[in-house]
Amino acid sequence: MIALNDLNRQYERIQTEINHAVSGVLAHGKYIMGPEVTLLEQRLAEYVGSRYAVSCGSGTDALLMTLMAWGIGPGDAVFTTPFTFIATAETARMLGAVPVFVDIDPATFNLNAELLEPAIQKAKNKGLTPRAVIPVDLFGLPADYEQILTVANQYGLLVLEDAAQSFGAVYKVKRTGRLCNAAATSFFPSKPLGCYGDGGAVFTDDPDLYEKLRSIRVHGQGESKYDNIRLGINGRLDTIQAAVLLVKLGVLDSELAMRQSVAERYTNGLENVVVTPQIPEYCRSSWAQYSVLAKDGRERKEMQDRLLSKGIQSAIYYPKPLHLQSAFSDLGYVPGDMPVAEGISSRIFSLPMHPYLNSEEIEEVILALRAHPE
Ligand SMILES: Cc1ncc(COP(=O)(O)O)c(C=O)c1O
Repeated sequence: MIALNDLNRQYERIQTEINHAVSGVLAHGKYIMGPEVTLLEQRLAEYVGSRYAVSCGSGTDALLMTLMAWGIGPGDAVFTTPFTFIATAETARMLGAVPVFVDIDPATFNLNAELLEPAIQKAKNKGLTPRAVIPVDLFGLPADYEQILTVANQYGLLVLEDAAQSFGAVYKVKRTGRLCNAAATSFFPSKPLGCYGDGGAVFTDDPDLYEKLRSIRVHGQGESKYDNIRLGINGRLDTIQAAVLLVKLGVLDSELAMRQSVAERYTNGLENVVVTPQIPEYCRSSWAQYSVLAKDGRERKEMQDRLLSKGIQSAIYYPKPLHLQSAFSDLGYVPGDMPVAEGISSRIFSLPMHPYLNSEEIEEVILALRAHPE
């Protein structure tokens, strides 16, 4: 079996360090907000190059806490891509804001910055207040921030980078996490930097946002946990997860290089077989996923079946764009509203991708896809 992701192989490499780190937490017993959490936040901020990092319970919490800190709520429009995981838009909707979907670029699958301005105008015409944009770095590839920030600045919008899939990626010499007003990342186990449970973090240079996030993370605390000056959540990262992440951060750069090499080998072997990922020359992806396009849904099914018959896993991210999800049916979108996202979702699939895929396995995947059906 060639798995989509194989965390056991990573564990084999770092077992001694992980066991030592987790035992350290068990020995001191500070399971909530222990010293590893503070140290991790320092290391994360250093790695990203941001002034602050606030760890939290998940990538979803990271998005939610930031939107709460910005006071996003009813009547506000939050612009985002329909081709992402539900959490990106769900968090804005949970606060009563209206997610306004902006179709994607057919080459990068990220929010198409050229469509942002018309979407802002349309939202204004509907009586909404444009407040924020949440671009997503899909599969590890940073969105087109230069263009997005130009439009956002023109309209006074806050920009929250959804870097859940792109920790460690680079956009024009800057690491993701320090490209916008704030960035949210996820440490879900399968992410480029993942823990052994749920986890996340927000990055920002803004001292006011930093203070609010720290308060919201602990039920809106003021002077103490029992002085509550705003509404918040229980959004803390467990100390054991912080200890795991400190070890994994130490091997992240080598793992990103290994992912890059897997991606290059796939691209060389598959260029004439499927549409391979297009990475602009000023970006470095963190390769959370390696996703390709078949000609159509029929070819995708045939290719996925062929992979499965040879014991190779594949997956579809995402089979249904967000604007067509029942959870958002009250927003009134219909099929055809986001033609690029809808077209891509009918053809896309992801191949096994992790740093520890070996040459034989990569070759097996390529050969399975190259083989013509009998
Ligand atoms: C683009 C995107 N945003 C947000 C999230 C939410 O992160 P989490 O699962 O850590 O809550 C994910 C992860 O699954 C994601 O892929």
